[in-house]
Amino acid sequence: MMNKFISLLPKAELHLHIEGTFEPELMFKIAQRNNIKLEFNSVEELKKAYQFDCLQDFLNIYYAGASVLIHEQDCYDLTWAYLEECAKQNVRHTEIMFDPQTHTERGVKFETVVKGISNACQDAKDKLNVSSLLIMSYLRHLSEESAFKTLEESLPYKHLIKAVGLDSSEMGNPPSKFQRVFEASIKEGYIPVAHAGEEGPAEYIWEALNLLKIKRIDHGNNCFEDDLIEEIKKRDIALTVCPLSNTALRVVDDLKNHPVLKMMEKGLKVTINSDDPAYFGGQVNENYIQLQKALNLTKDQLIEFAENSFKYSLLGQKEKDDFLNELNSFIKTYH
Ligand code: HPA
Ligand code: ZN
Repeated sequence: MMNKFISLLPKAELHLHIEGTFEPELMFKIAQRNNIKLEFNSVEELKKAYQFDCLQDFLNIYYAGASVLIHEQDCYDLTWAYLEECAKQNVRHTEIMFDPQTHTERGVKFETVVKGISNACQDAKDKLNVSSLLIMSYLRHLSEESAFKTLEESLPYKHLIKAVGLDSSEMGNPPSKFQRVFEASIKEGYIPVAHAGEEGPAEYIWEALNLLKIKRIDHGNNCFEDDLIEEIKKRDIALTVCPLSNTALRVVDDLKNHPVLKMMEKGLKVTINSDDPAYFGGQVNENYIQLQKALNLTKDQLIEFAENSFKYSLLGQKEKDDFLNELNSFIKTYH
């Protein structure tokens, strides 16, 4: 009953790394056609390696997987496979993060990556009626200089990219390291968002708000300081929570102890997302389903997540209203 409701519920996904949607079967197929040997001999062997003690454990495997992407068609196929899943799950809109440096550091051109991804997005709009936009994420374990280079490389493709983000190894790489490059990115018209408070402390969330001027907090699990919560509410900023990511990376020990209810009690705006679905055991609907089960969430709480996902998307008001109307008609017929 609840599962059917969740799967039919129109929703947006606001925290998703395209490199994290790389299913092992597709990874092996692309590796093979590019004549690249993965360090794993089979899909089963690769899947066995998906046991993580922390964010860094996961990142090592995630970057290794992404290294088989060479051609525009590879990036297209990866993105298209994810967008087909969106259509099946009633994800009506998705804000896709991509990590240019994961590819440019290996000698793949920025253009190759952005064209492959955005062509798939355009086709998804036309053929699947799934809406999307792109968030270019800087890798925080790399230098400020490398982020500036990436910003420079993005400029000819500015019309294809809506926002900038910040991801990868959080501890020891505070938002302050990227203050200048975010300032320059904002000047170019990009909307700033950032991962903050996943493994890092509340202080990193403060920095992301005050120094990077972010419009959305990715994760934000460590936001529980009264004055920080007040500040987030004052700015009317949402958190993109990723339940199965949190348990897979041991940010949360058990979904039953997930801070999402506490966040909502405090009046924070929460959305539910998959982060890296191929690695963490489920797409966005599976995140809703398992969280609902663990915390015995009501339909109204699930509707609130879906409503927030459209409201706090980076779409214009007209598009937001259209999706919110669609959500409302669904609720009227289904509730
Ligand atoms: N955190 C930081 N970096 C990432 C993540 C994440 O959850 N997923 C992909 N890159
Ligand atoms: Zn993430």
